[in-house]
Amino acid sequence: MNIGIIGSGGREHSLCSKLKESSLVDKIFCFPGNAGTETIAKNINIDILDFEKIKITCEENNIELIVVGPEKPLVDGIVEYFKKTKIKIFGPDKISSQLEGSKTFTKKLCKKYKIPTSNFEILNDKKSALNYLSSTKYPLVVKADGLAAGKGVYICKNQDEANEAVKEIFGGRFGKADCVLIEEFLVGEEMSYFIISDGVSHKFFQTAQDHKRVGENDTGKNTGGMGAYSPSRLYNTDLDKKINDKIIRPTLDGIKDLGTNYCGFLYIGLMILNNEPYLIEFNVRMGDPECQTILPILETDLGEIILACCDKKLLNINIEWKEKKSVCIVLCSNGYPENYQKNVNIDQIKNIKLDNDEYIFHAGTKIEHNEYLANGGRVLNIIATTESFRKSKEKAIKILNNLNWKHGFYRKDIAYKVT
Ligand code: AMP
Ligand code: GLY
Repeated sequence: MNIGIIGSGGREHSLCSKLKESSLVDKIFCFPGNAGTETIAKNINIDILDFEKIKITCEENNIELIVVGPEKPLVDGIVEYFKKTKIKIFGPDKISSQLEGSKTFTKKLCKKYKIPTSNFEILNDKKSALNYLSSTKYPLVVKADGLAAGKGVYICKNQDEANEAVKEIFGGRFGKADCVLIEEFLVGEEMSYFIISDGVSHKFFQTAQDHKRVGENDTGKNTGGMGAYSPSRLYNTDLDKKINDKIIRPTLDGIKDLGTNYCGFLYIGLMILNNEPYLIEFNVRMGDPECQTILPILETDLGEIILACCDKKLLNINIEWKEKKSVCIVLCSNGYPENYQKNVNIDQIKNIKLDNDEYIFHAGTKIEHNEYLANGGRVLNIIATTESFRKSKEKAIKILNNLNWKHGFYRKDIAYKVT
């Protein structure tokens, strides 16, 4: 079977690489992919929101199944579009994708189904939001409602910061704002928890902990993710049961009550306090860089799992994991997450030799005239999986040292809580 993968980040390179190993997969096409996917698949440069063009390209190349990496096409209804064709698609529909596409949708769902999350208020105009901020406790969290590429969350220590956030959101920084979400600040430790669902049943798809801040010791600006480790040190069976009973089941039931079923990966962003889970957010996709961290320890054929989901037969699949500890470190361009140079040569990657338990997944890269160039803020994901987090991290850092890329930087403390 030929497969199409939508997206161009490290997550999509890791999906592509894992699907390449599948006994069910022949050719892979990436829309648009990156320099990493180009070495194992065919990249096709298409606007990922132009569903019609994607469909025509799939028909021309006998692509029978599409796997969607990022959230935007899902929120915009790519699944509905392809459900009307003969091409299978793996991902949640538009109604279900509101779990990520609208933070107020999720908060209202939490309230209705008593899902543990932070207390919140939804304010519909700037004046009432500013008024609310003058008589509340700090710190708190101000959030834009819609998709904001990871930038619509403001952790505010005081009223001045919160006022500024509200003004930016209503000022249109993330598009026209009809409301703002103001949340209680949760304390605890974060965990990313994943499931895969076919709409009939769902299965555990690992845990991870990512490092979102740009600076060591989790300081500085928020980023798309500077690295991760898997499994999360917080995971245990008691916690797993609580996450399923208090968060996952009511959410999937809530989606069912809206007349549909959740299909695809679901990313449950949690705050854990005293072994109790609180929902921070949902994402309707795999995480990035969690996906790059998790897929190398997946034992079962990913093609079989995804195809079983499309056929609503996930219940028949036993998903197995390697007994390994995975560490992923992201190599970024200097200046990220703010301004950074583009089209910088990263050709020394050609000299890197990897062991069996080591992986490099590309993110913002391209190949031009046979040379590797960095064209994004997050450039490469370096992963190692061994019997210990410490050893995995040492291996990843050794690769980064060999790479010795003068135009970039990485966090040396990824996985510090487990090493
Ligand atoms: P989100 O995009 O909702 O995941 O938020 C991005 C990050 O902001 C999360 O990973 C948390 O680190 C932090 N965050 C969001 N909401 C809260 C909250 N209510 N309390 C504490 N931290 C939060
Ligand atoms: N690692 C965070 C995200 O994928 O949104």
